[in-house]
Amino acid sequence: MQATNLDFDHYSALPEAETQARILDARARLGKRAVLLCHHYQRADVYRHADLTGDSLKLARLAARTDAEFIVFCGVHFMAEVADILSRPEQTVVLPDLAAGCSMADMASLAKVERCWRELSTVLGEPDERITPVTYINSAADLKAFCGEHGGIVCTSTNAPAIIDWALARREKVLFFPDQHLGRWTGHKKGIALDRMAVWNPDLENGGLSNAEIENARILLWDGHCSVHQMFQAGHILRWRAQYPDGLVISHPECNLDVCRASDHVGSTEYIANTIAAAPPGTRWLVGTELNLVNRLAEQMAPQGKTIQFMAPMVCMCSTMQRIDPQHLAWTLENLAAGKAVNPIRVPAREAALAKVALERMLEIF
Ligand code: 13P
Ligand code: SF4
Repeated sequence: MQATNLDFDHYSALPEAETQARILDARARLGKRAVLLCHHYQRADVYRHADLTGDSLKLARLAARTDAEFIVFCGVHFMAEVADILSRPEQTVVLPDLAAGCSMADMASLAKVERCWRELSTVLGEPDERITPVTYINSAADLKAFCGEHGGIVCTSTNAPAIIDWALARREKVLFFPDQHLGRWTGHKKGIALDRMAVWNPDLENGGLSNAEIENARILLWDGHCSVHQMFQAGHILRWRAQYPDGLVISHPECNLDVCRASDHVGSTEYIANTIAAAPPGTRWLVGTELNLVNRLAEQMAPQGKTIQFMAPMVCMCSTMQRIDPQHLAWTLENLAAGKAVNPIRVPAREAALAKVALERMLEIF
């Protein structure tokens, strides 16, 4: 069963059935030495191999707790970095395809955030005294390190309200990056007026804001978004509700404010899955999040008579999550079984230490 040549070239064209059989065989050989963590957006042919599943927060906690020698992370790059930062030094995290990034995370870079910080200092004086940097977990490790170094913190789609409370209790303003929608929805839920949340455009001088706008803002929202969740629109909800007045709508907070406002429930991927699972049989749902998860829920909930419908008329998949396919998983596992960790994720030590400060602040709060 084992491949004689462990280069990826020999896996890319493997037929599906053989690939699945080889994944099972390699997992059996590795036993408890490897744990497979899987995000909810993973495709079905990979998800079926998961030992543990969850949203970003749950997966971070699971990575910090596992004793396995190898953590095979079926998710995207920033999630594997978090697993590396929170796991022990003798453990190895591998990401089956390094091209599995997050386009939202790429919308904020350390160079741009540092420039923003410098520009804010010319308007507000020492920013470390007036602004708390808060990074969504969907960001590179160096941005988490920036937060660790500047009294800031990480948040996820689950705990953003508690983290914003923490941040605003310490300093008068928050710089929130990279997802403006999660930041705006969270600020709105906290009662912050929309005109006190200004969008910082990193490609313009002073974010494209006047000094008065910067002074007035309680939350500066980085001009970033998720390319998948931006497809969902409030009009989709209105049309659906006209057809199904008793139906329920649930969305991820990466959707825009109008979508979140028009939804009955808003929360993380784990929250979405748990809320629908706990709903009475026979309920009908419109779901605003990535298609792999929505399809899985539709299949799982069908026996209880629950109807699950995707919010957008077009297909919106996370193309980077999709990069983790069975061929890459088979390649990763067979290499591990042969003693080689391909695609190890190793955050440089100083960066990891500072990022851990920001992550641990978050984990202590929520
Ligand atoms: P969750 O933490 O809710 O799983 O969200 C991660 C993500 O990338 C959603 O697009
Ligand atoms: Fe990033 Fe959006 Fe994909 Fe989530 S769905 S991993 S935010 S690109």
